[in-house]
Amino acid sequence: MCPEPSSVRPCAGSKTIRRVIAVGLTVCLGGTIQAAGDVEAGRMKADACLGCHGIATYQNVYPTYHVPKLGGQSAAYIVAALRAYKAQDRQHPTMHSQAHDLSDEDMADIAAYFSSLAQVE
Ligand code: HEC
Repeated sequence: MCPEPSSVRPCAGSKTIRRVIAVGLTVCLGGTIQAAGDVEAGRMKADACLGCHGIATYQNVYPTYHVPKLGGQSAAYIVAALRAYKAQDRQHPTMHSQAHDLSDEDMADIAAYFSSLAQVE
């Protein structure tokens, strides 16, 4: 799933952001540079995320708005998205506040945990 163009700051240029994400994915699939996160550590750190990013469904516990699924998502994609929210390259107040305090290591661990879960149909 690609970030929706509407959620990308127009002046940042969505092409650049897509390229950054694409590079991130390539690096991870190559498995050489990006350090793999720790699934167990990520399980603890992801606790706060699960209230909204429920795994079994696309909806959060308040069935009023759609929250993207994370289970089975590529770790590189999750890290790229979190970095973009933190840097506000991807605009979303809720996810900015979620990503704001995460270190690179936290992001890698959380991403490893979510990507280790079964993909939701
Ligand atoms: C209060 C609810 C809420 C919480 C808590 C929350 N998220 Fe989110 N998250 C959202 C919503 C809503 C979106 C969709 C935002 C958008 O459209 O860009 C989202 C988007 C994302 C995305 C992008 C998914 C995609 O398909 O592009 C990632 C990755 C993500 N969240 C990770 C996390 C992580 C990791 C945590 C815990 C540290 C977390 N979220 C906590 C509501 C939440």
